[in-house]
Amino acid sequence: MKKRCFHLLVLSIALLAVHSQNLGDYVSVDCGNSISYTDKNTSLVFSPDDKYIDTGVNYNISSSYVSQIVQGTYLTLRSFPVGNRNCYTLKPAMQNRRYLIRATFFYGNYDGKYATNDKFLFDLHMGVNFWRTVNISDASQAVEYEAIIVALADFVSVCLVNKGSGTPFISSLEMRPLKSSLYPTVTASSFFDLSLRRVDLGGSKITRYPDDPYDRIWYPRCNMWTLVKTKLNVTTDGFYEVPNVVLQTAILPINSTNSTVPQVADPTLNISLYWPVDPSVQKPSYYANLHFADVQQLPPNGLREFNVFWNGYLFADKVRPSYLLNEPYSSQSPFQNPNGSDSHMLTLTSTQNATVPPLLNAIEVFNLLPVKTAMTNLSDGML
Ligand SMILES: *[C@@H]1O[C@H](CO)[C@@H](O)[C@H](O)[C@H]1NC(C)=O
Ligand SMILES: *[C@@H]1O[C@H](CO)[C@@H](O)[C@H](O)[C@H]1NC(C)=O
Ligand SMILES: *[C@@H]1O[C@H](CO)[C@@H](O)[C@H](O)[C@H]1NC(C)=O
Ligand SMILES: *[C@@H]1O[C@H](CO)[C@@H](O)[C@H](O)[C@H]1NC(C)=O
Ligand SMILES: *[C@@H]1O[C@H](CO)[C@@H](O)[C@H](O)[C@H]1NC(C)=O
Ligand SMILES: *[C@@H]1O[C@H](CO)[C@@H](O)[C@H](O)[C@H]1NC(C)=O
Ligand SMILES: *[C@@H]1O[C@H](CO)[C@@H](O)[C@H](O)[C@H]1NC(C)=O
Ligand SMILES: *[C@@H]1O[C@H](CO)[C@@H](O)[C@H](O)[C@H]1NC(C)=O
Ligand SMILES: *[C@@H]1O[C@H](CO)[C@@H](O)[C@H](O)[C@H]1NC(C)=O
Ligand SMILES: *[C@@H]1O[C@H](CO)[C@@H](O)[C@H](O)[C@H]1NC(C)=O
Repeated sequence: MKKRCFHLLVLSIALLAVHSQNLGDYVSVDCGNSISYTDKNTSLVFSPDDKYIDTGVNYNISSSYVSQIVQGTYLTLRSFPVGNRNCYTLKPAMQNRRYLIRATFFYGNYDGKYATNDKFLFDLHMGVNFWRTVNISDASQAVEYEAIIVALADFVSVCLVNKGSGTPFISSLEMRPLKSSLYPTVTASSFFDLSLRRVDLGGSKITRYPDDPYDRIWYPRCNMWTLVKTKLNVTTDGFYEVPNVVLQTAILPINSTNSTVPQVADPTLNISLYWPVDPSVQKPSYYANLHFADVQQLPPNGLREFNVFWNGYLFADKVRPSYLLNEPYSSQSPFQNPNGSDSHMLTLTSTQNATVPPLLNAIEVFNLLPVKTAMTNLSDGML
């Protein structure tokens, strides 16, 4: 008994330590800015970028775009008219630790040269590894990309590579340390690129830090489904730690009842998802996490049980969400994407024994990319 209490104490001290370390280790860079400030939405302090890079030119976006922006980091940017490859060095990082890296781009006609139908294409590299193509076709549209990586040194290098289709630029860079148990698929030899903005089904607002201690961003989506929610806490799991507020809402098929009266109104929940295939990625390797947690307490004879298909292929069978407990289903291998299509169909279908329709709380989709040069010399500064 005593021993167990001791362990619990040690564990909670360790958790506290990890928690406070997280915030201290947040790197929040507002590219092109020259002052530090506190972001109103998140209370996070953003720093100027001059201590992370020494090339490039600072710009403010054009004043005609200022009223449209929702995020302070989009007001300024750094542009790279010179050099094929310009790199930010994000530090401090801890070697072998997993990090979330986020980069945003808001053009806002900063150079005053915007012409209708102008398009920008340049590449983002994680050190020497291709991360993704930045595709900007709208001066007033913010673009946000995210990766989950293992740091190979005590810094992380993010590079913008000119491919002759417009001058590369960047609005912000963020680096968030993750607890070591999170996103175990990511290793020193491969990393995740977030394919689709994280989906909070049934949610009513954007969730990020401080509700998500790792500052992942969850976007609400409800469309035409039936919304169900709870005010009670949902226990999260150790591999993903999805925030409570995200798990507290879920969707059922259209025309379902949101009361706990057992019924299978419509046994099928269809969710269509869309994200553009990066033309530079020859063969994407998509991985998904589906987060299930029942938010309706079923009667004793009630059963929620369903199979999940992704593009018609079985993804998970006989899923039985537990009440107020998140049990994620994660791809163990890349899921099928026939014909390389940009459109995906997620179908949840009740089994014969089910008494209530299928339910889903949240979705994450990643493309797993290779780390080609784990052996690169650190002194090259190329990581
Ligand atoms: C920040 O908060 C404002 C006001 O609450 C909101 O309109 C805006 O969408 C938020 N921005 C982001 C990026 O969440
Ligand atoms: C951007 O705007 C701020 C405030 O108006 C100004 O102080 C700064 O000099 C501008 N920066 C550039 C690069 O023009
Ligand atoms: C860039 O995005 C536009 C608009 O979403 C799309 O039509 C175009 O095919 C994309 N280009 C590339 C090279 O990905
Ligand atoms: C059920 O739906 C009704 C009407 O749409 C709504 O007012 C109520 O809050 C919902 N109940 C729950 C538990 O979500
Ligand atoms: C949910 O958890 C939070 C943090 O652990 C706690 O403060 C809150 O009281 C809990 N709410 C309920 C309804 O149990
Ligand atoms: C939902 O109910 C409406 C009205 O009863 C009906 O017109 C519609 O076809 C139903 N949708 C589905 C998918 O069953
Ligand atoms: C769900 O999608 C499948 C496959 O596209 C289709 O056969 C089915 O009719 C759809 N069901 C509903 C309720 O939309
Ligand atoms: C893929 O292409 C084949 C042949 O054109 C077609 O029969 C099939 O429906 C397509 N699959 C998807 C998911 O679009
Ligand atoms: C339905 O439940 C019965 C009784 O528990 C079980 O024998 C049967 O295998 C179940 N059917 C399916 C399709 O799971
Ligand atoms: C590392 O640097 C050494 C000396 O410069 C060189 O011999 C070696 O080939 C390099 N290794 C790699 C993997 O580039």
